Amino acid sequence: MLFDTPATANPIDQLKVIGKPTDRIDGPLKTTGTAPYAYERHDAVSNQAYGYVVGSAIANGRIASIELRDAKDAPGVLAIVTAQEAGKLGKGNFNTAKLLGGPEIQHYHQAIAVVVAETFEQARAAAQLVRVDYVQANGAFDLAAAKSSAIKPEPGFGGPSDTAVGDFDGAFAAAPVQLDATYTTPDQSHAMMEPHASIAAWDGDRLTLWTSNQMIDWSTGDVATTLGIPKENVRLISPFIGGGFGGKLFVRADAILAALGARAARRPVKVALSRPTMINNTTHRPATIQRIRIGAATDGKITAIGHESWSGDLPGGQPETAVSQTRLLYAGTNRMTAMRLAVLDLPEGNAMRAPGEAPGLMALEIAMDEMAEKLGIDPIEFRVINDTMVDPEKPERPFSQRRLIECLRLGAERFSWSKRNPKPGQTRDGGWLVGMGVASAFRNNLLTKSAARVRLDSRGMVTVETDMTDIGTGSYTIIAQTTAEMMGLPLHKVSVRLGDSSFPVSCGSGGQWGANNSTSGVYAACVKLRETVARKIGFDASEAEFLDEQVKAGDRSVPLAQAAEGEDIVAEDAIEYGDLDKKYQQSTFGAHFVEVAVDVATAEVRVRRMLAVCAAGRILNPKSARSQVIGAMTMGTGAALMEELAIDKRFGYFVNHDLASYEVPVHADIPHQEVIFLPEADPISSPMKAKGVGELGICGVGAAVANAIYNATGVRVRNYPITLDKLLEHMPEIS
Ligand code: MOS
Repeated sequence: MLFDTPATANPIDQLKVIGKPTDRIDGPLKTTGTAPYAYERHDAVSNQAYGYVVGSAIANGRIASIELRDAKDAPGVLAIVTAQEAGKLGKGNFNTAKLLGGPEIQHYHQAIAVVVAETFEQARAAAQLVRVDYVQANGAFDLAAAKSSAIKPEPGFGGPSDTAVGDFDGAFAAAPVQLDATYTTPDQSHAMMEPHASIAAWDGDRLTLWTSNQMIDWSTGDVATTLGIPKENVRLISPFIGGGFGGKLFVRADAILAALGARAARRPVKVALSRPTMINNTTHRPATIQRIRIGAATDGKITAIGHESWSGDLPGGQPETAVSQTRLLYAGTNRMTAMRLAVLDLPEGNAMRAPGEAPGLMALEIAMDEMAEKLGIDPIEFRVINDTMVDPEKPERPFSQRRLIECLRLGAERFSWSKRNPKPGQTRDGGWLVGMGVASAFRNNLLTKSAARVRLDSRGMVTVETDMTDIGTGSYTIIAQTTAEMMGLPLHKVSVRLGDSSFPVSCGSGGQWGANNSTSGVYAACVKLRETVARKIGFDASEAEFLDEQVKAGDRSVPLAQAAEGEDIVAEDAIEYGDLDKKYQQSTFGAHFVEVAVDVATAEVRVRRMLAVCAAGRILNPKSARSQVIGAMTMGTGAALMEELAIDKRFGYFVNHDLASYEVPVHADIPHQEVIFLPEADPISSPMKAKGVGELGICGVGAAVANAIYNATGVRVRNYPITLDKLLEHMPEIS
């Protein structure tokens, strides 16, 4: 189905099942511990052996020699694979050739061997006996130091490196009110609950991988390329995923080393990355340095806005696209953005929940707060004054929908923003200084092809198959709701099967595109199924209604199940998009409100209340969408207050590579959260008229926390995370 004109009325609009706060259909499996996660597939294949990954002890250089004899002689050892045994690995689309290092080493804890043994303990013990001599080379590990040598990167996922409209320099110089400030965000880790894990089994030259992966089709292709086998010989199975946040968009060492280990041991092999290994072995969100300049007239209208961002990555890597939102969020005739990329020898930087916008808004939305204060304008009014209904870089492109102002206004009302004292450091509650902060939320809505297959059987059940994944987001449930709505079924008459490369290729889970695109693919398949069913029972497809497990036309009514008597009816289709997303800028919007209390004596920060108002198209399931947003608000609070991968700049690795020292928020850190979705449906986005919220929810949160801390204390911290050491010496005198 080609979607190239705005959606008109369709069966989804009935909202009998869609739009309801349905419990997750996979909930019972999760809560009873019976959802089959990759490492727990003991039943999948017999005779599984265990692989243990050896990580490089240096960040940069090469292996001079590697001595395996003691390890090979250790009890239970079946095989050891190093780069020498494996031979040259193919270069997939996502750096997969580097998943087994040696002799050259690119980063700390890069895998250099997998030891396969009968038991996990034997594999781990033998891995300690692998002796490696390294020749260590110098490396660059400090973004601030490498910044001056940063280059202009090629256009990538985030568009061109630079954009410019009008005369930024002239307009900024002439502006009566100016801000020129630099902000930093640190390296961050996805820290998802489930570590990367895979079980590999070969049958001749055919490979099956039970794994934990967000993007089945990308990854099936990359496994094949890396191992030098045809894509059709690889099957990936990833039905349940314990979180990803972008860390599982790509094939990682667990999958490739399980496959290589299984080939060498002639046995199925399972590999999980241990928590202390995965943080340096896999990807992370790269640190940024961001300079923002804003010039405005005294009435608050922005006349010049400039955003430059520096980040680092391994040679050949990509920049963190932290300027993305500044290209689209606020009006202003004269504008510039630029991204620069430094070579760093740290582990690979890559996508983490709202790559680009999450760290970009952490900077931009403090800058907007600072600017509002300079202008003496309320920070909400300042944003309202600079709203735009068109892409400010390409004014011929309108936003398909944009209700940022309504998000800000409704949020202000619900959060009692009028009670905020605009003068910082004034509001006391016993030993606490109390303040409120606001930030805009913004994230794009990406359209990407997605296919599904639906099968109606004689019980009147419909089974959906698509290689879409559910990374904890609710995909199973919204796909079931879509199918139920389209076919006129109750939810329990729909069965959803996901995460298998033998199913039709979906959009996968990434970039908050999963909900809208995967359900649109299911919608397309259901339209086909409805047509086939109608034809089979002699109805005119355009007249047939699917309601209450019946197909109805005029005064005739036939049970849906009857259509599949004798033979199942199968339909398969994909949603594909025309150029609507070129004619319209499609984005999601929101406003985050935060109240904090800061201990007058210790500068300890406590978040007291949070509110997000989101405008993100039709909300397919308010319960799972709310879960996405409150999780994202929690993650944004972590980014504001605690998350930072600390670099050992001598040896080039992240020191706090476990969950004891890489701090993330816990329940006690987040007392009260509220989420409001503006009722809307965007007919430009898809037949579902939906968008995504999973990333929108984190966008802006960090800055809202920072702005609340400023309002509470009068201390402006521009370097995240805002730990108490950065506040303490600037805290107001205790009176
Ligand atoms: Mo997302 S960072 O594209 O999983």
